[in-house]
Amino acid sequence: MEKEINIKKVVKQHLEMAEFFSDGVLVKGKEAIIKPQRRNASAENVTGELEKIAEQVRQCKKCELGSLRTNAVPGQGNPNTRIVFVGEGPGADEDAKGIPFIGRSGQLLEKIIKAMGLQRSEVWIGNIIKCRPPNNRDPKPDEIINCLPYLQKQIELINPEIIVTLGAPAAKTLLNTNQPIGRLRGEFHEYYTSSGTAIKLMPTYHPAYLLRNYSDDNRKRVWDDMKQVLAELNMPIP
Ligand code: SF4
Ligand code: URA
Repeated sequence: MEKEINIKKVVKQHLEMAEFFSDGVLVKGKEAIIKPQRRNASAENVTGELEKIAEQVRQCKKCELGSLRTNAVPGQGNPNTRIVFVGEGPGADEDAKGIPFIGRSGQLLEKIIKAMGLQRSEVWIGNIIKCRPPNNRDPKPDEIINCLPYLQKQIELINPEIIVTLGAPAAKTLLNTNQPIGRLRGEFHEYYTSSGTAIKLMPTYHPAYLLRNYSDDNRKRVWDDMKQVLAELNMPIP
């Protein structure tokens, strides 16, 4: 009897390891990433409202980036998700297509999402600013101030349980702090919506930073942050 249980356990572990290393999608364990209460009419509403914001962003000329962009990048993903990822702003690849995180950083972000046992299509991905700054310069304060309300509304509509910010600008902007990312990451903070709802926020390194500093230590730090996120969502940690 005891033997039988052990065999089951070993087989399960083996399957999980194989899926992890093959970059595959893990069998979902405890809780699902899509909110169960949203598989109804309100889900359609959220999708419609998000599409309205996306259209406003595509028309927006509130700052000078609006005249410099090829495509605005409003954000993309599942509106019923429990996790939202927020980056800084579009790069060249994103500007060319109007889709967030599809260049080198995006490929690494997708790897991280898969290592978490999730698919890109199961989360929502956005940015602090929606249009690409020329030569990828840092966004200016007035650009962030003009653009931030779009993201704030998107977050309020999606109402995720957790926001993961990628890199210093996203963390500093949403937490309204000047603390360095090395100090902010590794623990949960709180983001407050305009209606006063607190949403847990985990800052981690930007994939572009990780690509430039691809050490075991940095990769472990990001993975530790993501493990905390999965634990908070009561999801299996691969
Ligand atoms: Fe509008 Fe934001 Fe684009 Fe500026 S960056 S034009 S505020 S959408
Ligand atoms: N870097 C970001 O911060 N956002 C993107 O969408 C792509 C790269």
